[in-house]
Amino acid sequence: MTNFLFLTFPYLAVALAVSVGLYRYFRDRFSYSSLSSQFLEKEQLFWGSVPWHYAILLVLTAHLVAALIPGCWAAFLSEPLRLCVVELTGLALGLTALLGLVVLMARRGGNSRVAVVTTVMDWVLLVALALQVLGGVLIALLYRWGAAWYAQTAAPWLWSLATFRPDMQTIATLPLLVKFHFVNAFVLVALFPFTRLVHLATFPWGYLWRPHQLVIWNRRTRAAESA
Ligand code: HEM
Repeated sequence: MTNFLFLTFPYLAVALAVSVGLYRYFRDRFSYSSLSSQFLEKEQLFWGSVPWHYAILLVLTAHLVAALIPGCWAAFLSEPLRLCVVELTGLALGLTALLGLVVLMARRGGNSRVAVVTTVMDWVLLVALALQVLGGVLIALLYRWGAAWYAQTAAPWLWSLATFRPDMQTIATLPLLVKFHFVNAFVLVALFPFTRLVHLATFPWGYLWRPHQLVIWNRRTRAAESA
């Protein structure tokens, strides 16, 4: 079972995300959206969505950098002060994300207008995200200096998966909570094409390199008319 969860399931999750994600994109492109409910309720949405997105994107960026350049990451954190700052920042961001998510969940459950447009899959995703973020925060609290041991444990495992030489030796003895956090990350990957999470793929990167737009007004302006 352990081998399946850490060596096979990650590939199944990615294969599912890519294949069903592409199928859904080409069959029903307009469903690639977070299906905004802002017009139904926007106050709670603001206080949930803004902290959630800023905090989780920063946390995930740190996860990604540590996985991509574990050597540099570990060297950077070898200075105790830096390690403390990174750990505390990570914890603060994790708590901010958790708070944002709780507000978003309360909004979906508590507001009757929003509840009507909330599906079972929305709840499956919200619960999986909540477990993931809560798990991360608990790891940061219970198993100190995760920012540092991540580079020696999770990063080699992720690299072994990425290079198709799956090996879980470096994570085999980690506590159950940590292992749950790792497996649940791939559950989220598997949920990607079946939920609103697909809106991640709609980030308008094209704006970064498309030619700038020149807007020319053809109608007569009020100033020109009065002149
Ligand atoms: C296989 C992928 C992942 C691995 C190996 C991983 C590993 C870790 C580790 C070791 C920590 C503890 C860091 C510390 O103590 O400073 C952590 C924290 C955390 N993780 Fe993950 N994680 C993964 C995926 C995710 C995902 C997908 C999410 C959110 C959707 C997430 C959210 C968090 C949060 C909110 C924290 C607490 C904040 C922090 O300390 O950085 N993680 N993760």
